[in-house]
Amino acid sequence: MLKLNSFFLLCKDPTLKRLGRELKPYSPKLLLSMACMVVVGLFNALQAWMVQPLLDEIFYRKDAQLLYLLPLALLAVFFIKGLFYFSYSFTLEKVGQSIIRDLRNKVYAHLYTLSLSYFQNTPTGELISRIMNDVAMLQSAVSHSLIRLLRDLCSVVGLLAVIFYMDWRLALVTLVFLPMASGPIVIFGRKFRRLSIGYQNLMAEASNHLHETIAGVRIVKAFSTEEYEKQRFAAKLQAIMDNLMENARYRCLAHPMVEFMGGIGMALIIWFGGMQVMNGHSTPGTFMSFLTALIMLYEPVKGVTNINSTIQQGMAAADRLFALLDVQPDIREKSGARDLPPFQRCLEFDRVSFHYPGNPDVLHSLNLTVQHGEMLALVGPSGSGKTTLSNLVPRFYDVTAGAIRIDSQDIRDISLRSLRQQIAVVTQQTILFNDTVRANIMYGRNNASESEVREAARAAFALDFIEELPQGFETVIGEAGVRLSGGQQQRISIARAILKNAPILILDEATSALDTESEREVQKALDNLMQNRTTIVIAHRLSTIVHAHRIVVLKQGRLIEEGSHEELIALGGEYSTLYHLQFADEAHQA
Ligand SMILES: Nc1ncnc2c1ncn2[C@@H]1O[C@H](COP(=O)(O)OP(=O)(O)OP(=O)(O)O)[C@@H](O)[C@H]1O
Ligand SMILES: [Mg+2]
Repeated sequence: MLKLNSFFLLCKDPTLKRLGRELKPYSPKLLLSMACMVVVGLFNALQAWMVQPLLDEIFYRKDAQLLYLLPLALLAVFFIKGLFYFSYSFTLEKVGQSIIRDLRNKVYAHLYTLSLSYFQNTPTGELISRIMNDVAMLQSAVSHSLIRLLRDLCSVVGLLAVIFYMDWRLALVTLVFLPMASGPIVIFGRKFRRLSIGYQNLMAEASNHLHETIAGVRIVKAFSTEEYEKQRFAAKLQAIMDNLMENARYRCLAHPMVEFMGGIGMALIIWFGGMQVMNGHSTPGTFMSFLTALIMLYEPVKGVTNINSTIQQGMAAADRLFALLDVQPDIREKSGARDLPPFQRCLEFDRVSFHYPGNPDVLHSLNLTVQHGEMLALVGPSGSGKTTLSNLVPRFYDVTAGAIRIDSQDIRDISLRSLRQQIAVVTQQTILFNDTVRANIMYGRNNASESEVREAARAAFALDFIEELPQGFETVIGEAGVRLSGGQQQRISIARAILKNAPILILDEATSALDTESEREVQKALDNLMQNRTTIVIAHRLSTIVHAHRIVVLKQGRLIEEGSHEELIALGGEYSTLYHLQFADEAHQA
């Protein structure tokens, strides 16, 4: 009854229902294992039932024949039960693990459908924690507890049958007490769930703290904030421990409470059952068999509080996972979006306005056309919207008014893949993966040939230093390329862009992190990259863009000047002021 109670409570849970849908593909296997489980449950009951002939026939009536038969029957029962136990538990384990694997894959795949804005608003550590911790928690709930719950349910049904068969009056007395014992379980269950949500949040925060401070260890050391970070982390760990201890308090309390309830029931049964035997209404065998079944029933009942807390934790994790899966991407491909044919004519910004969600406009009705083969430079003060503008082209964000067209096609009408294939982006922040130099250059083009990779490295002025590395192209560069200098990392990412061979190129302050020496090297690599391409260059250092075909000046989200370097200097406006300031600066430094 107790089992049934919490089982039915669970069945109404929407999270569980959804988990059930994830289970659908595995239903044949599940049915099979459930059938095996029923057999195990029946055999459990059979074991309890066999106590009656043991006592009444062998000990009491001294039936010699049964003395040989019963032990053999017992062996058979254990053996068969063992076989079915293996079948169902192994199958269920496999199903449990498969759901978890599928769920991890699903969440990871879903992450990539989400827009950049989602990642900017969600700490990385938190996402990692969802995929690793939450899914692991769900795993222990599914593969251990939920399964045990099902198995116990079968045993309970069988054992209840034995109890009723042996002595229905006594059974009724027992059943009055079982629901009472389930009281604390229901109450504690809610507490466990609430605590568990708190726990997951705390874990996510701690993971995020770790992620940020390990990735940013140089800043921590440089600012000597080790003590500060240690304290912050210690506080987070303490909060986790407090949460776990509160959980433990209820868990530790639930166990003796349930046990005590069971004790009351047991005392009553011994008293009432003993009376039945003394009055001659029952036999000692029947009573013992009843008691055995009850004791066997008690075992899963005792365990259910722990199972319950694990399940509640798992459900909390599932809630968070499903919430993540329900996040809708802002940027979506239209159904039936066509592929963009190779870029030929022009890239056009038509009255483009943009604002970040919940913020005022950062771009105001901007008109700009970039011709095929043109090198366009975008300059302007910090915060004027240059990066924002460049992010609109690969649809990292969508315009909030107006349209961006490539060869007269609105970029919202074409497939994301074909759009992004035609655009290469090099930013100030280089992203290299913890893999070989070759794999980093080939990223996104695994079918590139050996000579293409070398050629790309050569054009990026990276071939010389790559060949001097201990294993050349096969050298593994650490996370974020720690074994390479900033300029070397930058040139590898340029080689990657060269290999991608996209017709539209966006350079967002690709050299601003470098000193003048390596900037010169990287600039040469960039000049190679820009050949025969349509390029939008964003640069602070104006000396790198003086030879651009056209320069546009952006200020507070508006285009205020446009022309060649000479024209803009002659105009004597914003650009000329910026240029002379920098020129004076550089002359001063030199
Ligand atoms: N994710 C974001 N959410 C909200 N506002 C943002 C976001 N990113 C940028 N902004 C705001 O948009 C404006 C334009 O930023 P943007 O990064 O495009 O400037 P920028 O011209 O590239 O500056 P810089 O030269 O410093 O790189 C700024 O006012 C900035 O605060
Ligand atoms: Mg910027």
